[in-house]
Amino acid sequence: MKEKLGATNALYPLVTAIVGATVDGKPDFATIAHVGIAHLKGITLGMGKIHLTNDGIKANRTFSVNLPSEDMVVVTDHVGMVSGRNEDKSGIFDVFYGELDTAPMIEQCKVTMELKLIEHIELPTHDLFVGEVVGTYADLEVLTNGIIDIAKLRPLLFDMSSKKYWSLGAPLAKCWSVGKEYAGA
Ligand SMILES: Cc1cc2nc3c(=O)[nH]c(=O)nc-3n(C[C@H](O)[C@H](O)[C@H](O)COP(=O)(O)O)c2cc1C
Repeated sequence: MKEKLGATNALYPLVTAIVGATVDGKPDFATIAHVGIAHLKGITLGMGKIHLTNDGIKANRTFSVNLPSEDMVVVTDHVGMVSGRNEDKSGIFDVFYGELDTAPMIEQCKVTMELKLIEHIELPTHDLFVGEVVGTYADLEVLTNGIIDIAKLRPLLFDMSSKKYWSLGAPLAKCWSVGKEYAGA
C-alpha cells in the first residue's frame, strides 16, 4: 500500500552543478541542481527568474556547467546561498575560457562544459534553458582511459527530501547488459 504524497517532485537525487555566465562583463556563478539531459549534447537548466546568472545567459546566449567534487561542498553551497546581486562572486573561483568567451568555466571543478543557449522557455517563475555542449574539459586525474570516471570525480548528489548533499555509492551492474539475465516475471 502506497501513501499518496500529493504533487511532490520525487526525481532526486540529481547531480549538483555550478552554472556560470557573464553578467556586465564579470563571471557570476549559481549552484543548480535542477539540471537535466535533453539528449547527449543537450543540457536543460531550471532556474528561478530572480537569479542574476539568468541575466547573463539571456544576454550572451552562453553559459558553463561545472561539476564540483565532494571537496568543494562548502563553496558549492555558498554560491547557492548568495546572489551576485548582493555579493560579487566573480573572484571566488579561478576562471578559464574555451571557445566561448562569455562562458566562464571553473578551474577548481575537475569537469566543466561550455554551452551555447539553443532554447529558452519562459515558465511563470522559472527560465528553462536548453544548451548545447560546445566543449568539455576534464582534469587528467578524473579520467580512466580518456573517459570521465565518476568514481574519481566524486560528484555531489543533491536530494530535496533530506536537503543534503550525498555521495556516490558503488556501481551495481552494467547497463545494456544485466537485463540479458531477465528470466521473466
Ligand atoms: C544545493 C542547491 C541547489 C540549487 N538548485 C537550484 C536550482 O536547481 N534552480 C534554481 O533556480 N536555484 C537553485 N539554487 C539556488 C541558487 O543557486 C541561488 O539562489 C543563487 O544564489 C543564485 O545566484 P545568482 O543570483 O548570483 O545567480 C540552488 C541552491 C543550492 C544551495
